[in-house]
Amino acid sequence: MSIENKKRRDFIGLSFTAVAAVGGLAGLVAMKKTWDPLPSVKAAGFTTVDLSAVVEGELYQTQWRKKPIFILKKSSDMKPDDSRDVVVGDARYTVCIGLCTHLGCIPSFKNNQFICACHGGLFDASGNATFGPPPRGLDIPPFKIEGTTLVLGEVGPEYEKLVGKA
Ligand code: FES
Repeated sequence: MSIENKKRRDFIGLSFTAVAAVGGLAGLVAMKKTWDPLPSVKAAGFTTVDLSAVVEGELYQTQWRKKPIFILKKSSDMKPDDSRDVVVGDARYTVCIGLCTHLGCIPSFKNNQFICACHGGLFDASGNATFGPPPRGLDIPPFKIEGTTLVLGEVGPEYEKLVGKA
């Protein structure tokens, strides 16, 4: 065998080894993905929020199952609403899905009310529909309270009480 042929053969051998190594690595990554829970399953389950970190009078937004969630710690100038408020200790919170019940736009929060610019719908700070086409207040997502933690996606007695009253 000539030296030129040996070099070519070595090169081809190394190339196969490199391709096999990359393939093996890709296989390991695929196996790891199979072992891990799917990211969408993790995200689709629950969203937890530490309510003690929510600033009074300021709208806090998060997501649960890809839906916007509004959390508002009510300030003293906001009317209490026993049919919708989530009460934790001395604090009252509005917890609702941030999608207008008319056609699903995301309202903004200004001057203690939720304003849906799409067709002029208004909701008060508790999420009750007060003006325009929205047929009902902002929907309350299923939740549970654990100490000062709000667990979105689990049904607790506080949620059942609100839904029963609503
Ligand atoms: S979508 Fe909000 S008022 Fe129409």
